[in-house]
Amino acid sequence: MTEETILSPSDFIAPLFVVEGDDAPEPISSMPGVFRLGIKDLVEECRSLFALGVPAVALFPKLADGLKDDRGTRALDPDGLVLRAVKAVKEAVPQIVVMTDIALDPYTTHGHDGVLTAGRDDVANDETVGILTQMAVLHGRAGVDFVAPSDMMDGRVGALRRALDAQDLTRTAIMAYSVKFASAYYGPFRDAVGSAKAAGTHSLDKRTYQINPANRREAMIEAALDEAEGADVLMVKPAGAYLDIIRDLREATRRPLAAYQVSGEYAQLHAAAERGWLDLVKTRRESLLAIKRAGADMILTYFAKEMAAELSL
Ligand code: PBG
Repeated sequence: MTEETILSPSDFIAPLFVVEGDDAPEPISSMPGVFRLGIKDLVEECRSLFALGVPAVALFPKLADGLKDDRGTRALDPDGLVLRAVKAVKEAVPQIVVMTDIALDPYTTHGHDGVLTAGRDDVANDETVGILTQMAVLHGRAGVDFVAPSDMMDGRVGALRRALDAQDLTRTAIMAYSVKFASAYYGPFRDAVGSAKAAGTHSLDKRTYQINPANRREAMIEAALDEAEGADVLMVKPAGAYLDIIRDLREATRRPLAAYQVSGEYAQLHAAAERGWLDLVKTRRESLLAIKRAGADMILTYFAKEMAAELSL
């Protein structure tokens, strides 16, 4: 009766990795229990998530190395992997909310989220925004409900909104990775989509476009810009180490707020549990409860399916 925060399956968005072909699901060594799925298995996974009460999925493609180049050209392939995945999922489970990542990192040989400047020491902001708007329009046409720019280029939310509206994609919503820190907790995800391997380093440095983990005020500036540019949902990422930011933003905006419990947060609980040092079932629940208590309305988490199953017992 006095419990203030209650988790529900409808709080979760499940991030899912998709690969070409019908091979058996590929395990990701740094993310126990998470697999890269062919489109058929992906569709089945979406069906079971929806049956468990999880309303949304966020899709991430893993491309073969041979399909990558330094400009991420395949991001604009109208018959690309993720677009085929979206169509298959929407056809099989029309009510599930499908979100796709708008960024170039799964497509570039260097693993950065955009194209690089001539000196190759930074991403070219405006040129990247131009590519991302074309990408968002392709995704909108394929039927995604939310495009989710995770690239952190300046001005991209407004550019995406204008481009979508100009193509009559007024109902394609934007979940903005507004407050995305330059975090070391993304390592396992980079294994999953192959961006670490492409770049030849785990600690791919994205500090010129992602936020300094030391900066609380800057986080609010980034979120306010995305809100003014037309973001429908704002996001804080990672979640667990940034609960203060989630709370700050909850109090600063009336928009729905998402938080992303990232791959490294998932991996650390699994690693400790494997050693018998932490109780996985209890810590995953506590970690998610803390994120919701901090103020998140929805949580992207690799625990979505297991948590939803546990909550519906
Ligand atoms: C990149 C992207 C990243 C994640 C989602 N989109 C990693 C990065 O910025 O390199 C991380 C998610 C996770 O760690 O679970 N566009």
